[in-house]
Amino acid sequence: MAPVYSLSLLLGLAGRALAECSRATLQDIAATYVKAQTAGRPELLSLASNASYAENDVSMDIKKGVLSQALPVDNTRSLLDPVECATFTEITSATAKHPYVIHTRMLVTDSKISAIESVVTDDGDWVFNATGHLYWSKRETWDPIPEARRDTRAVIKAAGDAYLNQWAESTLSVPLGTPCARLEGGMYTGERQPTANTCRMPAFPQPLKAGNRRYTIDEELGAMDIFNGFPWLEKTKPDASMPCSNLFRVESGKIRYIHEQTVCATPHCGR
Ligand SMILES: *[C@@H]1O[C@H](CO)[C@@H](O)[C@H](O)[C@H]1NC(C)=O
Ligand SMILES: *[C@@H]1O[C@H](CO)[C@@H](O)[C@H](O)[C@H]1NC(C)=O
Repeated sequence: MAPVYSLSLLLGLAGRALAECSRATLQDIAATYVKAQTAGRPELLSLASNASYAENDVSMDIKKGVLSQALPVDNTRSLLDPVECATFTEITSATAKHPYVIHTRMLVTDSKISAIESVVTDDGDWVFNATGHLYWSKRETWDPIPEARRDTRAVIKAAGDAYLNQWAESTLSVPLGTPCARLEGGMYTGERQPTANTCRMPAFPQPLKAGNRRYTIDEELGAMDIFNGFPWLEKTKPDASMPCSNLFRVESGKIRYIHEQTVCATPHCGR
């Protein structure tokens, strides 16, 4: 029989975790991350002593990573997830000498960053175009959702999962809104039909199972990011899963925007 005190103990621990993972704390950490990238100074971050750092699924020394390179941040948005104690940040650096679009997920423990992982895309990655990314991203509205109209975590998660699951099962229904637009690298499906649902994916030549999903969910923004592994796309490595990030905005249960950044091993994934 479970000890009677276990529930209150659990609640106590949960309460403590929530206090440490307030939106204010996470907001602070995300803002500092953007400052660190702008300055190319990872030492601005409050890292746990054993914090991990990885780019495109490869662990590396933070001092040798893109975060140690000063980059103009032309546009950015962050998701705060007090339940997972995680942040997600998208950075568009289009005016840099070497343009990038970077998606970064950070895990926080005891108010310190315990893990940083980024999907770092640049020229030659899947339909990469930072100028296009900046242009379209800035025209989108990702304001906080009024409290009465907010979706639950479960609804937001189900919408994004359905979108990824549909790559493996093309007949699966996905709650896409009208309008819905996808920014894929620098390509925008909503360019010609801004009021239509242009997010539907045609069936792939074979079912694709996007695995290794890592979530960041922000109910206030109605937003979620899923880091995942995108199989098949890289022609020279058909059995490999490429580092991929799908960022979603969900409004009233339906997907409004999708940003997808996918890394290629060879220019344009050999296609
Ligand atoms: C990092 O250190 C913390 C606290 O000392 C510990 O709880 C955690 O398991 C460590 N994480 C890793 C990945 O070693
Ligand atoms: C990148 O996007 C911009 C803005 O949409 C466009 O003007 C430009 O032609 C694109 N570049 C390439 C190489 O597709």
